[in-house]
Amino acid sequence: MIKSIILAAGKGTRMKSEMPKVLHTIFNKELVGYILDAVNGITDENFVIVGHQAELVEKYIKNNYENSKCILQSPQLGTGHAVSMALPYLKDYEGDIVILCGDTPLITSETIKEFVESHKANNSDLTVMSAIFENPANYGRIVRNSDGSLNSIVEEKDASSEQKAIKEINAGIYCLNWTKIKSAFSELKSNNAQGEYYLTDIVKWGNENGLKVNAYTLKNNEEIFGINSKAHLAEASKMLNQRVINKHLENGVQIIDPQSTWISPDTEIGADTIIYPSCYINGKNKIGKHCKIGPFAHLRGDVILEDNVKIGNFVEVKKTTIKSHTNACHLSYLGDCEIGSDVNIGAGTITANYNPLTKIKSKTIIKDNVKIGSNSVLVAPLTIEEGANVGALSVITKNVPAWALTLTRAPLRVLENWVKK
Ligand code: UD1
Ligand code: CA
Repeated sequence: MIKSIILAAGKGTRMKSEMPKVLHTIFNKELVGYILDAVNGITDENFVIVGHQAELVEKYIKNNYENSKCILQSPQLGTGHAVSMALPYLKDYEGDIVILCGDTPLITSETIKEFVESHKANNSDLTVMSAIFENPANYGRIVRNSDGSLNSIVEEKDASSEQKAIKEINAGIYCLNWTKIKSAFSELKSNNAQGEYYLTDIVKWGNENGLKVNAYTLKNNEEIFGINSKAHLAEASKMLNQRVINKHLENGVQIIDPQSTWISPDTEIGADTIIYPSCYINGKNKIGKHCKIGPFAHLRGDVILEDNVKIGNFVEVKKTTIKSHTNACHLSYLGDCEIGSDVNIGAGTITANYNPLTKIKSKTIIKDNVKIGSNSVLVAPLTIEEGANVGALSVITKNVPAWALTLTRAPLRVLENWVKK
């Protein structure tokens, strides 16, 4: 396995945020998390170069990716300078390094794998990922020699008008033989339009030092879509969602209205399940076969539904397991629950799982064949044993025995002729 360096020190001014750019999220996952997940299995150690609000990024990485380490770059003098920050940590490393940016969450594991394999197959010392863009503005351009070999990368700000017309751009992903190229980083110069140490100059350096330099052309340009603003974030979220939806459609899930449906990449769905319009399915979930979800359902993560479960309109579900043939068809909140099979959750049922005084969340356990009457509040911790019924409008604060009817409803009073009197 190889190692990676992920560039994430930039400021991200256009995000207009108090948060570092790479900690913005799509489906609850941080942008840099997408990159680290994409390299997972290809690399065994990752170095994330941080600068702007470094402590926050560092804390996130530390808590979520134990094989990844943050390295501070301060001040930020360019992408080449950023990589050079890793030199002390990789002094004795012999092998390949893949370099990526922290703000391109749509890159896939498959592409990185193929890219690294092409680097190896070509016996390359340096492979640059390129892409063909009809509108190449703002990207570095790939300059090739007349025989097609790679000459150099020219940044837009340093490019001649001829070079600006080149449509092959630098995607910003590199694979390099660390042993052979690491010394380049102490030789980079900043005599360019931006006064920065450019990582891209290693191409020219490689050529001057007799190394094998190649380009790999990306097949799907969407994968290097970079986030620089909240508008970009919205666009990338849509693209990722579309990718997820296409996968489920292919697998036999029926999605009535892909435009209004949101499904996180970490959600599994069985064939013949129907997702009705306007559902928001976030986090990690597993939905079985022949389920019906929505319209207007909200799954917030850690939801496991067996086959033939119905989650209807305005039902919110979080951290909950539901066994087969159970229905929660209308207007409910189910949080921190274990629900059996053949259960009916009446309209308006709420699991009161959170005690705001103790700030403790507790579980509601509902066994097979239980029927919960409409508008009930189930105050956790609570177990409702098999086959029990809860009358409508009850507030249940004590465990309910099997096959019992439990209710807290006030007796109905009819006052004859009260209105006339
Ligand atoms: C860079 C490439 C350009 C390529 C483009 C692809 C250089 C000189 N240019 O340009 O050829 O087409 O990416 O998107 O590399 N960063 C640091 N420290 C720094 C500067 C940048 O960590 O000192 C990080 C940024 O946070 C970002 C990445 O490096 O994640 C790329 O930096 P950015 O300024 O966006 O590079 P571009 O100008 O877009
Ligand atoms: Ca720049």
